[in-house]
Amino acid sequence: MSILERLTDRIEGASGLDALTAPAAAFWGRVLSPSWLTTLASGTKLRHPAHPAAATFTAGSLLSASVLDAAGDRRMRPASELLITAGVVGALPTVVAGWSDWLYTEQAEKRVGLVHAATNATGLTAYGLSLLQRRRGGDGRTAGFVGAAVLAVGGWLGGHLAYAQGVRVDTNAFEAGPTDWTDVAATGDVTVALTQVEVDGVPLLLTRVAGTTVALADRCGHRGAPLSDGEREGDCVVCPWHGARYDLASGDVLTGPAVRPQPAYEVREAGGRVEVRRLEQRALRINPA
Ligand code: FES
Repeated sequence: MSILERLTDRIEGASGLDALTAPAAAFWGRVLSPSWLTTLASGTKLRHPAHPAAATFTAGSLLSASVLDAAGDRRMRPASELLITAGVVGALPTVVAGWSDWLYTEQAEKRVGLVHAATNATGLTAYGLSLLQRRRGGDGRTAGFVGAAVLAVGGWLGGHLAYAQGVRVDTNAFEAGPTDWTDVAATGDVTVALTQVEVDGVPLLLTRVAGTTVALADRCGHRGAPLSDGEREGDCVVCPWHGARYDLASGDVLTGPAVRPQPAYEVREAGGRVEVRRLEQRALRINPA
């Protein structure tokens, strides 16, 4: 096991961090309470989490500055300074989007997320110091190199959150719904109520929109809540856990923090029965168990 793996293990089990997560959650919960801000910070309009994209710009700018600094050519100093400035400015949306994602994490995820944020804040501060030194005629490279090293650790923790803990991964990414027409209910049983049915081990949400039967994946793509337990508002469903709003007919996300549309199934009705199938096919979904 590598040092960094041991580090992430220890952070995941560090229950002492929970004393810090509560006030941080209370603060960012207040800051991000307007639903439009949650939608913006989550990346709902992009159909992709905003934080990784913003972080790529920020970290890419800062680390590129350090690469230029490492080259040791003084003619590159203005370019290096410009890159640090871009990285520091880009940090603002990156930080807000990151805390927005963090609000919807749990337990070990929250601990790793907190240390990820603290580490990156330290790296960013080092780059800020580097920029200040440069503006005052100093060298500033050492502070930048320290920032690069610290950001590398922060980046590792961010990767652990996404790839090991599955934070911000669409919870329907590996859902294997039926790709052949499959009987799921009697036509008369489908009303405007939000009804959960299970097919091939996959929970589906059945309801009627303007008289037409629709079927969506029932597991909210954000963190996995059963949408059939949510509230219906007109032709939308509101997730019972974090309030994302989905269009029932299309599965599109109207309000964050969810970002990916819910998988929508084709529906046909014949002989008093409702059948569904999923057109979209991805290798992992159609791979037999
Ligand atoms: S589980 Fe978070 S919005 Fe649905």
